[in-house]
Amino acid sequence: MLKSVPNVTFRTRVRDEAIEGPNPFRWEDKTTADYFAGKRVILFSLPGAFTPTCSTYQLPDFEKLFPEFQAEGIDEIYCISVNDAFVMNAWAKAQGIEHVKVIPDGSGEFTRKMGMLVAKDNLGFGMRSWRYAAIVNDGQVEQWFVEEGFADNCETDPYGVSSPQTILEALKNPESVAA
Ligand code: BEZ
Repeated sequence: MLKSVPNVTFRTRVRDEAIEGPNPFRWEDKTTADYFAGKRVILFSLPGAFTPTCSTYQLPDFEKLFPEFQAEGIDEIYCISVNDAFVMNAWAKAQGIEHVKVIPDGSGEFTRKMGMLVAKDNLGFGMRSWRYAAIVNDGQVEQWFVEEGFADNCETDPYGVSSPQTILEALKNPESVAA
């Protein structure tokens, strides 16, 4: 698996108080370096914003456990999905997220270059991310947490290896989790 995260440009939408009207947001390009340079982060990737496991467990649990990750030397937690910036921002808002930062990989370029793009045509989703997470230090992958059964049009949605609980355990006891 890749040793470093790929260099891409993400098309984000950020709030801009200078913009009047009901939608005070503008486009802001952010690069891989903007997110990863000089930081030790958790990156987790999932099949889609607003989907049940991601909304009920994975995203809220990472949010709740953020202070524990900080205590283990993690600077940021990033949630990435093959969804556009409007969808990712709406999901973060709906979930009341304050600590986890969402990254829109609308074109799937980052996910494809990570080797994690899979077809989810069986769900009408098109190309999406396999569920995985990684500890990334200054752009270098320290440890991967990839769910079992990587496949196109997978009938199941394994979740456990990439949960925040598993990753915290690995950070606290580096010998305990083989990933
Ligand atoms: C889920 O998070 O539960 C889910 C993800 C992708 C497709 C269907 C469900």
